[in-house]
Amino acid sequence: MAETIEASLKEQRRFEPFEEFARQANMNDPNVYKRAEDDLEGFWEELAGNIDWYKKWDSVLNWEPPHAEWFTGGKLNASYNCLDRHIEKRGDKTAILWEGEMGEVRTYTYRELLDATGRFANALKGLGIKKGDIVTIYLPMIPEAAIAMLACARIGAPHSVVFAGFSADALAQRMNDAQSKFVITCDGYSRRGKVLDHKGKTDEGVAKTGDVEKVIVVKHADNDIVMQPGRDIWWHELLGSAEPSCEPELMDSEDMLFLMYTSGTTGMPKGVVHTTGGYMVGTHVTANWIFDLKENDVYWCTADVGWITGHSYIVYGPLSNGSTVVMYEGAPDYPDKDRFWKIVEKHRVTIFYTAPTAIRVFMKWGQEIPAQHDLSSLRLIGSVGEPINPSAWLWYYENIGGSRCPLVDTWWQTETGMVLITPLPGLTTLKPGSATKPFPGIKAAVLDDSGNQVAGGQGGNLAIQAPWPGMIRAVYQDEKRFIDTYWSKWGVGTYFSGDGARQDEDGCFWVLGRVDDVIKVAGHRLGTMEIESSLVSHPAVAEAAVVGMYDELKGEAIFCYVTLEGTAIESEELRKELVGHVANEIGSIARPKGIVFADDLPKTRSGKIMRRILKAIADGTDVGNITTLQNPEAVEVLKRKLEEFNSGLG
Ligand code: WT7
Repeated sequence: MAETIEASLKEQRRFEPFEEFARQANMNDPNVYKRAEDDLEGFWEELAGNIDWYKKWDSVLNWEPPHAEWFTGGKLNASYNCLDRHIEKRGDKTAILWEGEMGEVRTYTYRELLDATGRFANALKGLGIKKGDIVTIYLPMIPEAAIAMLACARIGAPHSVVFAGFSADALAQRMNDAQSKFVITCDGYSRRGKVLDHKGKTDEGVAKTGDVEKVIVVKHADNDIVMQPGRDIWWHELLGSAEPSCEPELMDSEDMLFLMYTSGTTGMPKGVVHTTGGYMVGTHVTANWIFDLKENDVYWCTADVGWITGHSYIVYGPLSNGSTVVMYEGAPDYPDKDRFWKIVEKHRVTIFYTAPTAIRVFMKWGQEIPAQHDLSSLRLIGSVGEPINPSAWLWYYENIGGSRCPLVDTWWQTETGMVLITPLPGLTTLKPGSATKPFPGIKAAVLDDSGNQVAGGQGGNLAIQAPWPGMIRAVYQDEKRFIDTYWSKWGVGTYFSGDGARQDEDGCFWVLGRVDDVIKVAGHRLGTMEIESSLVSHPAVAEAAVVGMYDELKGEAIFCYVTLEGTAIESEELRKELVGHVANEIGSIARPKGIVFADDLPKTRSGKIMRRILKAIADGTDVGNITTLQNPEAVEVLKRKLEEFNSGLG
């Protein structure tokens, strides 16, 4: 039933751009698509002029598939582009408006943000950190996270931000892979009124790394912590003694700006390498055209700086545009379920960018909650992170956007660095549930497994057939994985996104979700293999298979099938212990929704676990043909176990 409604919504609704919005939009020239298609390099070259360069590039693009260099020979600095160049025109304008969970507000003007960044950059240099050293940033949503990123960019030390909600093990894993010897953390932070001991978690992680030299600690929650003499230093002490002025390092366009770890189809996350010139051009222009940033906008993206969205659309994109950016520390339901709308009302937010999972939760809480607040300051709303179902799209459009704001559903990935498929709010007809059109200059297609274009609105794999400036340059120190994951499905010139999609008769894209072993849980990206390796690291577990189970709010939830070691005994305690084990090893975003114990998992004759069947069992959908299985009888047993599990939930 629900599916029929969704299907009919998909086919029927169309929203033309608002005339008044279109008239004032930063991009309202319909020829832009054709211009970009006719002269891809000329198109990006012109846009590169919106970034400040110390030295102009020698060539726009060197494309030796799958390796791209953008703006080769150009020299620039990302922090200069986000800070220094705004001082003359908007030095006293608010750059960051931060609100803590307890309601405290701190603001930084562009001048103050430059001052703090310069001081911290000098402090980093004083500790011996030089160009090329990878600095780990393990901070929650506080202004120091952005300052630390910009300071690293200023001195040419690539940052690797690790989401603060990740576990000590996850921190150690990423620091070890990056051979990072420096980490910036804090004492604690507030989550639903409770102070979390972040320094304790950092210490535990650092203990599992090689030779970490310095741990810089922001005093934020004022909780009791232990500082290790010689290794740990307070942020405020470093800052207090540092000079504010720090010359930005002249970075090559292709020098690494940052590393961002993201989950893939093996147990180990990949270090996605982004470089400086192309990334800055790409995030600058997408932020400008898609969010239509204007001088007086108050822009709020609710993502965490620990993810790519926080990098591209809290820090580098909006700040390079000189925007006022809101950062909120805490949970959407603290102290009450109207916290987000209180923030919008209080700070007169004009642009609001969030995730479908949040929208579905707001929907469940009820429209009366946002209705109690004045949201009339909003003029554009956006969505990112997973497919947005048409009913959530319409709810968001009507109840948050007041049916007067364009809604941009933006498709992209950690690897793409910048938005690739999206409406342009002054030009594009919106369809609830579709991310609509490739951004100008982006060549997207739906291909079958052999690389043929899929016709007639059928589903296939989402591919990108030409390079773009913000694209992934490497998997850190793993060229083979870079090629195998992204560039080998159809040959080295075509990027494989890992997503399924279909294209309708108007050329609009409908992203259907992942086609690989990556799942999206409340918008967070996790590898099923990562969770499986965590489960089998527990002594009671012999074998584990993890699937994304349909979940009304989270999109997908983690569901595990576990075979126990010979001596281990099934019990409710053990189930709880395993759930806790995974949450502890990866982070609470990876907490399984369910675990069933299975004596036998459905396998092919060659012994491969059939995850497709396990997913169908978890979702209660048709398992399809199982006659080729080595053990088809296992399917019935698991179906019964699922029924027991679901009745227990009910
Ligand atoms: C995956 C990338 C890119 C920022 C946040 C996530 C899914 C992302 C959309 C969208 C449908 C989407 C895809 C993609 N995704 N945006 N608008 N519609 N799906 O970055 O963690 O690298 O995840 O998120 O499955 O592959 P990420």
